[in-house]
Amino acid sequence: MPFTVSKDLSEAIVADALVIPCYESDTPLKGYKYAASVEKLFHKGDFTGKGGQILVLPSQGSVAASRVVLLGLGKKEKACTKTIGDALADVYRHASIDGQKIKTLAVATEIIGAPANIKAAELGRAIAEAAVFGSYRFLTHHTKEKHTKKNWVETTIIAGVPGKHVKDVQKGIEKGEVIATYTCHARDLVNEPSNFMKPTHLAAFAEKMAKEVPGLKCKIIHKAEIEKLGMGSFLGVNAGSDTPAHLIVLEWNGGKKGDAPLAYVGKGLCFDTGGYNIKPNSLGMKGDMGGGAATICALGAIGKLKLKINAVGIVPATENEISGKAYHPGDILHSMSGQTIEVDNTDAEGRLILCDALTYVQRTYKPRVIADMATLTGAAVVAVGSKYVALMGNDDDTISHFEHAFNRVGENVWQLPLPECYEKQLDSPVADMKNIGGNPGTITAGLFLKRFIDEGQKWVHLDIAGSALYDGDNWGFWTGKTPTGSPVRALVEYAETCFADAKHKLDKEHGHRHGDGRVMKR
Ligand code: BES
Ligand code: MN
Ligand code: ZN
Repeated sequence: MPFTVSKDLSEAIVADALVIPCYESDTPLKGYKYAASVEKLFHKGDFTGKGGQILVLPSQGSVAASRVVLLGLGKKEKACTKTIGDALADVYRHASIDGQKIKTLAVATEIIGAPANIKAAELGRAIAEAAVFGSYRFLTHHTKEKHTKKNWVETTIIAGVPGKHVKDVQKGIEKGEVIATYTCHARDLVNEPSNFMKPTHLAAFAEKMAKEVPGLKCKIIHKAEIEKLGMGSFLGVNAGSDTPAHLIVLEWNGGKKGDAPLAYVGKGLCFDTGGYNIKPNSLGMKGDMGGGAATICALGAIGKLKLKINAVGIVPATENEISGKAYHPGDILHSMSGQTIEVDNTDAEGRLILCDALTYVQRTYKPRVIADMATLTGAAVVAVGSKYVALMGNDDDTISHFEHAFNRVGENVWQLPLPECYEKQLDSPVADMKNIGGNPGTITAGLFLKRFIDEGQKWVHLDIAGSALYDGDNWGFWTGKTPTGSPVRALVEYAETCFADAKHKLDKEHGHRHGDGRVMKR
């Protein structure tokens, strides 16, 4: 979406609509021609400035734009990029409804003022993210004209930015647009159904994406080589599928040559039937590659933003199917690490493809930090619901850094422990371990993965079973009635702040970009 930053006061901007942000019980519009009519609405109680209120009115010549959109921002003391982004995204959602005629939207930022904790660049980023996320819809398979026509906001003008801030706002917009766009690519991949999103398609997407980002390399490791690598666990899951396994590898070398990279590893399970432990209802399991989508798109954004770090993204991609060739309960798989696994449940397949990818990434790249992400357990939805990511790991500093990265972008995260006391639940009489360990399911899955992490290797595991998929609710401007693209934004934030600067201090400000006290306390 094209953005323009203008020093001109908002009342002079020609647009289909001018968004006038208003704080609750506050009418700071003195000097504007529309001030009197807005004040009247306040007095009558029709509009109070409560967060999320939207009122579209004809401007009747009071400003150059033909409509005025009054937008409630809530209490001024609580203003932060999240409250502003949340409110603004709703305007874009509203303007993206079929039949709306608003193509050019101006935002009167001079009225937002400058709450002490919001920097110009961050305001720019919030507006760009709100615009891209608020306008997002998945229309690839709609054929009717009304759905294919792009009848949503096409251009945004940010008005009334003081001269010295114009460059900063522009920088923030550029960054926000990249991050939001790649997060929306992850949404598209999750939205795409399994007949259009097989491992071949996921691999083709990664290759095409890499071609569009100078310096980003993509290689696909095909089944014959996966066999040579000895990934018996990954191949066990793939056995029932007519589509061969693909291992997607992305490399970004923006840092010093030889510097140990950041490694993201994502579950690319293109459809999860459950296998012979068949799911009673597998609707929604087209999204079981959400971790892989986030890994691929985070690497895309990292490259596009030219971050000065080395990073790799690894995605084992397969389906979990039922057929005469499929793996059975009781089978024993020989993983790449050498450890053997008894398949107690064919539906606990995510960990079986991730463990080989984790071995591969450690042997090939010796990463400084690994984060894996997966729609791994239904138990994570029970534990933290659909609005939180469950975070586990083996290193307190790395865990804190990830928490802070999530907090800074306003994504919710909560840590779960990986205690020794549940280890023996993974014992098997016939192999080194079983692939399920009973309750608590999210933790025993994390403990399973931990067995594939080398001594001294810093690692976190993100269970995104709730946060990445369709929720039917908005829980922030980066979400919507769609899969969220979580945790792409947090992954980019971690790469940019915490990983790029190893000595990064976890100071108070670091965790408070939104200024709303949402930093997790332990
Ligand atoms: N992909 C599922 C987990 C899942 C469930 C994600 C619901 C999103 C929504 C995973 O492969 C799975 O089936 N896990 C099992 C593990 C069990 C067999 C130990 C589960 O959660 O039931
Ligand atoms: Mn499963
Ligand atoms: Zn799964």
